[in-house]
Amino acid sequence: MPLIDPFQRTIDYLRVSVTDRCNFRCVYCMPEEGSPVAPKEELLSADEFVRIVRIAVEAGIRKVRLTGGEPLVRKDLVQIVRGIASLPGITDLSLTTNGYLLTEQAPALAAAGLTRINVSVDTLRPDRFKAIARRGEMASVMEGIEAARAAGIGPIKINCVAMKGVNDDEAADFAAWTFREEVHVRFIEIMPIKWNLDETTGFDPFSAHGGNGLIQLKQTSGSMLSDNEMRRMFISAADLKAIIEAAHSPLLPAEIATNGPARTYRLAGAKGTIGFISQISSDLCENCNRIRLTSDGFLRPCLMSDGELDIRTALRSGASDEDLAGLIHHVVDHKPERHYLAEGQKVTGRGMSQIGG
Ligand code: 5AD
Ligand code: SF4
Repeated sequence: MPLIDPFQRTIDYLRVSVTDRCNFRCVYCMPEEGSPVAPKEELLSADEFVRIVRIAVEAGIRKVRLTGGEPLVRKDLVQIVRGIASLPGITDLSLTTNGYLLTEQAPALAAAGLTRINVSVDTLRPDRFKAIARRGEMASVMEGIEAARAAGIGPIKINCVAMKGVNDDEAADFAAWTFREEVHVRFIEIMPIKWNLDETTGFDPFSAHGGNGLIQLKQTSGSMLSDNEMRRMFISAADLKAIIEAAHSPLLPAEIATNGPARTYRLAGAKGTIGFISQISSDLCENCNRIRLTSDGFLRPCLMSDGELDIRTALRSGASDEDLAGLIHHVVDHKPERHYLAEGQKVTGRGMSQIGG
């Protein structure tokens, strides 16, 4: 029996955030000192994750993605991957990571049953990497990508959060990467999702540079981008596509296996593809097929709408599989039709690292 929501969407995809911790501090995600994290004992254990995912798969989920925070900072990630990969009924298990710890972990993850991976890379320039991620090393991320490839994990997708004035001038460089290697670059629209809405970093990217020029992200030191700053950094898929086509050649429609919400293209002669995830400008909601499980055990029907159901309390107070399946159905039954970000809706409840990107 498939899981169907009130708007006739089949829900077969579960995104599981295995931790709210991260070893990076990306400016659009967290302040420098890090986001508040849940006490360790509130995070679900590997066995608890596997149990909920098993029940979700029995209810109709087919595809699972592990996210964070940064999933690779969890010591028992391999155990979670192994437990989920071995569930009958799973057709796809993937992972989103910042890639920093991938070199050492890729072989064990592959052996545990991980088949696909998305690595976040917002810039190909080491100095900018420091300004955006504020931790880690770009070289380690690049090495991690190669280690994943060597371990047989693929296709390798690259998530690039596109930010006007920050990295939009690298769109053509990202596109050029698809000639050199089989990477599937996906540009993601920046989403104004966070909790320090009323605060501002005090930095006006446009007036500070006379209305153009590169944003000097180091000026956001300490803080993270505000809701308004993120809204102003927005650049649409159509604009990025135009930049890439002007630098290279027309983008030809392409289809790759396990293509999520990205519209995918290929430059003639390229090994990899280029996709655009426009969750803000286009109505992806219509085809949304997912629900989310947070690292502290809340089920969430929509990334961009507040509202979630506590499943941890039930889980830890002796709920049966049937009880937990009932909670999963309840969340699917209350999935909103769409988000209202374009109408000015504010998502305040949790930041991205606490929900799972
Ligand atoms: N807008 C868009 N993407 C974001 N991510 C984190 N925060 C945001 C945001 N505000 C991305 C990360 C990563 C994925 C998990 O989510 O860069 O690619
Ligand atoms: Fe960490 Fe991902 Fe947030 Fe960056 S976007 S700080 S890598 S959780």
